Amino acid sequence: MFPKMTITDASQFLGITPQGVMKKIKNLKLPYCKSQNRIYFGYETSKEIFNISMKPKILAFQIVKGGTGKSNISLNFAIRANLYGLKVLCIDLDQQANLTTLFDIDAQGLTIMHDIILSNGKKKIEDNLVKISEGLHLFPSSLENAALDDEILVRGLGIDRVYKDIFEPLKEYYDLIVIDCPPALGRSVGAAAYAADEVIAPVIPDKLCLRGLQLLEDSLKALEEKKYGRKVPFKIVFNKFDNRTNLSKEILAGLFNNKNYKDKLNDTYIRVSQDIPNACANKMSLFDSLKPSLIKEDLDLLTRDLLGINVKKKLSEKVSIISVEKT
Ligand SMILES: Nc1ncnc2c1ncn2[C@@H]1O[C@H](COP(=O)(O)OP(=O)(O)OP(=O)(O)O)[C@@H](O)[C@H]1O
Ligand SMILES: [Mg+2]
Repeated sequence: MFPKMTITDASQFLGITPQGVMKKIKNLKLPYCKSQNRIYFGYETSKEIFNISMKPKILAFQIVKGGTGKSNISLNFAIRANLYGLKVLCIDLDQQANLTTLFDIDAQGLTIMHDIILSNGKKKIEDNLVKISEGLHLFPSSLENAALDDEILVRGLGIDRVYKDIFEPLKEYYDLIVIDCPPALGRSVGAAAYAADEVIAPVIPDKLCLRGLQLLEDSLKALEEKKYGRKVPFKIVFNKFDNRTNLSKEILAGLFNNKNYKDKLNDTYIRVSQDIPNACANKMSLFDSLKPSLIKEDLDLLTRDLLGINVKKKLSEKVSIISVEKT
């Protein structure tokens, strides 16, 4: 995996010419590469060029519905954020270990969350990270994490503290912590929500997904009602949007017109694209390729949106679809 920030994307983000970006790179003597007449660079150069400073954030991707894109969006979002020069940690809490596999890591023999819980504070995440690339680390998962709910229960660990106490100190080292959760509700997923600054719920054009969204909302409310002392905000990201199908438009419009979800629905939605399964099959991220594509544009906008960095550009096509459906 070798994700790349192209000089064209950097120039658009910074609002200066590609020559201007190049001048900055040369003046600061930063590393860059050239291939197929395109110039690109990675985290070390991005860090200096973009110089983004933000309050560290923990985002948990969750919804009790399988296959909505939690792992693939987590992966590409984390990678894109890293390409903007942010220090990113991905935490895989799903026993299916899809995020771990997407990063091409085999967690056998590595420490996972189940080991951390069993160790009663002796093992630490920060001593057991896998370095994916500069500024991008993974805390992997494997099948044993299926027992997380039971261990949290048996040990009498509070949902409000168990992960919060572990994750919060990591904000000292990372700008962004991305947690990929299993398609389930339970103690571990609830604790991840509670440890997060925001829960991100990817939904797809599937009616069952709306039921999943309702269950997620109920579980977040239940956490709140248990008087753990804080409301966990959540955002909905529409994934696998297909302009050609009525179901996509119907479900998107349904969310937009629902007073509970309207404000939570993220402006940026992700189109269906064969590039995602293709990138998975090749053990790559979307941003490994230099070729511009709509799906990369979507993930780039989503990244900026979720991080609150330079969100000036909104796809007019997207906005018009929503407003047409609304009327
Ligand atoms: N925008 C998209 N366009 C096309 N395919 C997509 C898109 N997003 C995700 N996929 C595909 O959908 C499938 C499910 O994605 P993913 O594994 O990320 O979902 P998930 O919500 O993490 O699933 P689970 O709940 O099982 O963990 C994968 O095969 C992935 O390649
Ligand atoms: Mg997943």
